[in-house]
Amino acid sequence: MNKKNRPIAVFDSGIGGLTVLKEIVKEMPGEGTIYLGDTARVPYGIRSPETVIRYSFENTRFLFSKDIKLLVVACNTASSVGLDKIKSVVPIPVIGVIEPGAKAAVKATKNKKIGIIGTEATIRSDSYTRLIKAIDRDVEVSGLPCPLFVSLVEEGWTEGDIVTQIAERYLKEIKSKGIDTLVLGCTHYPLLKQVISKVMGEGVRLIDSAVEVAKEVKAILEISGLKREQKERPLREFYVTDSPDRFIKVGERFLENKIEHIEKITVS
Ligand code: DGL
Repeated sequence: MNKKNRPIAVFDSGIGGLTVLKEIVKEMPGEGTIYLGDTARVPYGIRSPETVIRYSFENTRFLFSKDIKLLVVACNTASSVGLDKIKSVVPIPVIGVIEPGAKAAVKATKNKKIGIIGTEATIRSDSYTRLIKAIDRDVEVSGLPCPLFVSLVEEGWTEGDIVTQIAERYLKEIKSKGIDTLVLGCTHYPLLKQVISKVMGEGVRLIDSAVEVAKEVKAILEISGLKREQKERPLREFYVTDSPDRFIKVGERFLENKIEHIEKITVS
């Protein structure tokens, strides 16, 4: 197939990366997409870097066999610990979610105090801090893992008293640092945007990595002359490593769209 007309591939540890896919489709409705959710092995956020890297290689190998033109590592955890290694094994552009989020945060902060929330593995890796400091070493960065947020979102609890109380408890510490910008450094957190925003208050700007990644993908396709040329409706394929039922049920909420053409596969 002509390289331009090949699909964009996106992988995540599970359902969460659909927040990134949604923004990609919104930004570039004419592009074909293939999504892989490693639902049999989610969550990645509590695993060691070695395990996350091995899973990411297996996901990459599967997607690369599908004749893709660009790969998006939608999982913050996989991007944090394995992006450079993934880039070294495939000869196509590979985009992670950390750099676009870090760049947008540095651009947004006025008082040079940025907060990052994410999984334990993402925060432990210091990936956001390193990139932010590389852009502006005077910025103060505070990281905080919020592991329960993933379960709440998976459960469909994205608003209400209990969610607000949990958010208040988690975010108290980061709020006390006087940050004016907070990066939602996990695929699931954009679904909690309203609650997080309410808890953090008006003075804190939230950075949704998904939106920034979609803009970056668009820019790369334009610069590399890889924009799709075909006019017919593009392909939207989904692959999961566990039963598709739950993925469809929860995923359609993330995507705000129907999930058709889904198949269970083995990547390992
Ligand atoms: N996709 C993961 C991330 O963005 C969250 C879920 C998990 O722990 O696998 O870090």
